[in-house]
Amino acid sequence: MRLDVVTIFPEYLEPLNVSLVGKARARGQLDVRVHDLRAHTHDRHHTVDDTPYGGGPGMVMKPEPWGEALDAVLASGEGRPVMVVPTPSGRPFTQELAVELAREPWLVFTPARYEGIDRRVIEEYGARLDVRELSVGDYVLAGGEAPVLVMVEAIARLLPGVLGNADSHRDDSFAPGAMAELLEGPVYTKPPEWRGRTVPEVLSSGHHGRVARWRRDEALRRTSAHRPDLITGRGPEGFDRHDRATLAELGWREDADGRFWRAPEAVEE
Ligand SMILES: C[S@@+](CC[C@H](N)C(=O)[O-])C[C@H]1O[C@@H](n2cnc3c(N)ncnc32)[C@H](O)[C@@H]1O
Repeated sequence: MRLDVVTIFPEYLEPLNVSLVGKARARGQLDVRVHDLRAHTHDRHHTVDDTPYGGGPGMVMKPEPWGEALDAVLASGEGRPVMVVPTPSGRPFTQELAVELAREPWLVFTPARYEGIDRRVIEEYGARLDVRELSVGDYVLAGGEAPVLVMVEAIARLLPGVLGNADSHRDDSFAPGAMAELLEGPVYTKPPEWRGRTVPEVLSSGHHGRVARWRRDEALRRTSAHRPDLITGRGPEGFDRHDRATLAELGWREDADGRFWRAPEAVEE
């Protein structure tokens, strides 16, 4: 997979040389190219921003450097990349999107600063490319570089051969499959006792069925406590009888259509 990042802070992307992504690059599984937006300015001060039309605080990134930089990136490869525009006003970046983007051969990221990029840039490339405006969460960061690091890591670990154990992401929170859209429960390793705290006995029972059931119950408990929105309104499909009993213990009820809901007074601490 090829990844291009256009930024005014190329050094911010240094972590892409480390750990899993760094190793994938070294093995040739990922071709990461970071470009300095300021190399596409032509004034003495390498200006990339200007005041907003319509007034108001903050500055807006000028279209010309972005246009020149993106044209150069597009001209340097075959085919059309998917362009990923990090923005708090985008659609939420989810595991499902990470899976989808991991299938693409080429992604171009455009992390912005200031109040963002002149809208015409998104329109211009949106007419030629699949452009995704994506948010990494409901908060506002100073720039899009950290969101790019987040998205690249989420995508890269899904590429074939990047994770040591190909099964590692199968049971992740949000992973499609057995634990579909449930958060992953707690995990433990050796020693069996640490500061007087022991590991739940079932995990050393060697009984695969009981271990799987325990993990599933913990996933239901954690999801119910931390992300009830992942359960509210879901139908009975994907939940077996035992799941439904666990959910009932946690205060969940099924309505006439079999959809789960929970009265506010039933919320556990
Ligand atoms: C200060 S923010 C601009 C915020 C903009 N005024 C708004 O409210 O939508 C500057 C840049 O940081 C990045 N950014 C900030 N928060 C983000 C988030 N939650 N997800 C993705 N990108 C974000 C985007 O590239 C954005 O253009």
